[in-house]
Amino acid sequence: ATRTVAVLVGSLRKDSYNRKLGQALARLAAPSLEFRFVEIGDLPLYNQDLDAAYPPAATRLKEQVRAADAVLFLTPEYNRAIPGVLKNAIDWGSRPYGQSAWAGKPAAIAGASVGAVGTAAAQQQLRAILGYLDMPTLGQPEVFLHFKDGLIDDQGTITNEGTQKFLQGFVTKFTAWIEQISPAKG
Ligand code: FNR
Repeated sequence: ATRTVAVLVGSLRKDSYNRKLGQALARLAAPSLEFRFVEIGDLPLYNQDLDAAYPPAATRLKEQVRAADAVLFLTPEYNRAIPGVLKNAIDWGSRPYGQSAWAGKPAAIAGASVGAVGTAAAQQQLRAILGYLDMPTLGQPEVFLHFKDGLIDDQGTITNEGTQKFLQGFVTKFTAWIEQISPAKG
């Protein structure tokens, strides 16, 4: 059976390397996993006053996460941390208190950066957040993709064979992880 994955990309820019990484992973993962990209750019800034009257975009985010079998976070690194837009989306998904959409969902993390240590610092921070949110998160392989122009084309095709094999391995492990944490019913 095909399992569904809610994909959050922590970059809003049109030509985001992390979005390209997501498109490449989606191709490698099909048909075992179906990726559903979740829009986070239309969320207002989190404000606890709005817990009583949740904004529609935040409610939609929570529904999309709840409907998925798993969550994949694709994060850039901004100043050695995860981008504010991604933290904002995570915060919206976690509230109101006791009604988090994240709890128990199997998760995985990957990231692309132009820097040599490609998103390692941001991913460590994200792992701590997901631990707190009670998301069982795949430990290995870690994907710190050092993005160079042309590595992934506009169709989501990976142009380097080593990278392609490595990312295929990541997708295979993530698929098995989802099945282990949350076996398909029926
Ligand atoms: C960056 N970038 C960056 N890269 C990195 O490896 N470590 C870092 O700490 C930072 N810091 C940082 C801060 C800000 C505000 C910006 C805009 C950028 C560079 C980053 O890797 C590059 O912009 C990527 O292209 C971002 O990912 P997307 O948007 O291509 O997915």
